[in-house]
Amino acid sequence: MFGSGLSGAARFLEVDASIPFSRISGWPRSAAAGHPGRLIAGRVRGRRVLALCGRVHLYEGFSAADAAFAVRVLGKLGAGMLVVTNAAGAVNPALAPGSLVLIRDHLNLQAASPLAGAGAEAFGTRFVDMSEAYSPRLRSLAREAAARCGMELAEGVYAAVLGPNFETPAEIRFLRTIGADLVGMSTVQEVIAARQMGIEILGISCVTNLAAGLSPEPLSHTEVLEAGRRVEDALARLLAEFAGLL
Ligand code: HPA
Repeated sequence: MFGSGLSGAARFLEVDASIPFSRISGWPRSAAAGHPGRLIAGRVRGRRVLALCGRVHLYEGFSAADAAFAVRVLGKLGAGMLVVTNAAGAVNPALAPGSLVLIRDHLNLQAASPLAGAGAEAFGTRFVDMSEAYSPRLRSLAREAAARCGMELAEGVYAAVLGPNFETPAEIRFLRTIGADLVGMSTVQEVIAARQMGIEILGISCVTNLAAGLSPEPLSHTEVLEAGRRVEDALARLLAEFAGLL
């Protein structure tokens, strides 16, 4: 699953079919810039892959169940592994803009879960263990893939906020205090839904900017999308190498 400005990284796949979400009835679709919205069926190193280019966000008014929809479809189709990517701001100033960071754990500050409310029990138990949501096995393979590519790959905790406004400097100081290294507006709903279905998860953030208050520059969505595009190649190389290690 590719996040803001990162869909080009799907070029690591040999494409068999590419279907706009608009052609699939009932598929929740984003109107946000940078989310073209298509499902790609392809292959890499002998493995079959379904790539979700674009996702929906709670800040657009979608529900947690809408955000989880695509992952649930892939889970029902038999996917056993989810690689989830996103654009994120660096709360930890040691994480450089333009770098890729493995997600070790998350803080869900969106006050929502796809497991709340009616219907969620169709996908598994409601009370899902999240203690190793981001697979240690897959993180270790990703680190090995990065080493083979000669790439740095730090690790961090991702805090998901509702957005769509960027944070205040006080909010970023709060996030740092509670253990966040990265901040973004996505990912955790998909991860919760995938864990409910027993799907193994690798999460990768692309650091697009220093979070509010850590740099004198004002933040902009355009800057986030551009920074995402600059790391698409590195992400594509890393994912191809990772697939070869599975
Ligand atoms: N804050 C929240 N979400 C983000 C950021 C940020 O600084 N950068 C990219 N997504």
